[in-house]
Amino acid sequence: MDSHVFSITEQRTYVICLATNLIPLAPTRNQFCLEVTSEQTNIMAATQTSGDEVVVVDLRSDTLTQPSPLMKQAMVEAPLGDDVFGEDPTVIALQKKVATLLEKEDALFFPTGTMCNLVSVLTHCQQRGSEVILGDQSHIYLYEQGGISQLGGVHPRAVRNLPDGTFDLHELRKLVRSDNVHFPVSALVCVENTHNVAGGKVLPLDWLDELGATCRQLGLPLHMDGARLLNAATALDLPPARLVRSCTTVSLCLSKGLGAPVGSVLAGPEDFIERARRTRKAVGGGMRQAGILAAAGIFGLDHVYPTLGRDHRLLQELAKAVEACGSKIIRCDPQATHTNILLVDCDLNVVTPEALCNRMGQATQEEVMSLGEHVIVQMLPITDTKARLVLHCDVTPNQVQSAARKLRYVIKELDSDC
Ligand SMILES: Cc1ncc(COP(=O)(O)O)c(C=O)c1O
Repeated sequence: MDSHVFSITEQRTYVICLATNLIPLAPTRNQFCLEVTSEQTNIMAATQTSGDEVVVVDLRSDTLTQPSPLMKQAMVEAPLGDDVFGEDPTVIALQKKVATLLEKEDALFFPTGTMCNLVSVLTHCQQRGSEVILGDQSHIYLYEQGGISQLGGVHPRAVRNLPDGTFDLHELRKLVRSDNVHFPVSALVCVENTHNVAGGKVLPLDWLDELGATCRQLGLPLHMDGARLLNAATALDLPPARLVRSCTTVSLCLSKGLGAPVGSVLAGPEDFIERARRTRKAVGGGMRQAGILAAAGIFGLDHVYPTLGRDHRLLQELAKAVEACGSKIIRCDPQATHTNILLVDCDLNVVTPEALCNRMGQATQEEVMSLGEHVIVQMLPITDTKARLVLHCDVTPNQVQSAARKLRYVIKELDSDC
């Protein structure tokens, strides 16, 4: 690797780094030292001399946020202690804050949402042969490596998720096991809000209340994977505690829309959280001076949570831009787009989600000429027919407008190819 110094602005370096996957080293006032291959040097030199700036709009996930300078300052200044001894004042403050916000007795800090859900399920299901009923499109079922079975011997029983992220409560009742020596023991129901695979959908409040009543009748506790619960609360303009009133336990991610680099919090009854603290230690989640991370979560709750509505409004602009194309090939439903996740449907006879994402990740010469800007939009194929775009606090209104112009251009191009 060669090391080169380029005298360019911070903004420009950032754009170039995103476009070339480089990491800036040792930034000075307006010079950045970059480790680059000679091929990358040529791309950068060409970009500098031609003056055609590449605008990269990364809409793959809301986990991509960078901690802001003020968030970093809060982290650096946080008072710390050993959290395994229960002595980190910043962790204690975060846990209290989340417990109060969700109106639960107590809360516990975790490094990740996956560990938070895992420990919650394992703590609910301490009897061997336990079974958890959960949505067949839920994150715990699809994307957590089957950790509840792999590490905890808990058997998952999937109930079919409906397109709005809910499931049929009659189906749920049918899946609860009777007392029979051949069966596992139904021990827990899980629900996800907002629902990621359903496209950031907010679960209807009356359905949640009915689910809570059903679980109480069945004598089963209810865990909510509320990784994006605060997006749901923002969309409904309700205190988050209202959304989790029927839930025994809730996990809440700090490292998604709230912009923190790390962290999730599990909230629930005091005795449950005490048992979860032991399970967290067993899976390696007992962190020491974790307040440096918890401080970012507190900052996110205080300063980023109130801005989630902005992400939702900007995403509506993007959804309406796609809808306004009137395309039969790429479609979306702004009405069914509730929060910060947009799903676009692809007509597989013309384009797959992978092909659409590839096309959005490139710019043709004609396109740059026509749009007057060189825009790369990064997005993810999420199902066989759908691609996903996600907004968060680091995506600016200008970037959203650039992404909307690019989407319109690409959709028109696909339409004209048919
Ligand atoms: C709904 C949901 N739950 C849980 C998680 C897991 O969070 P983490 O990536 O922090 O493990 C995610 C991550 O994207 C998620 O979308």
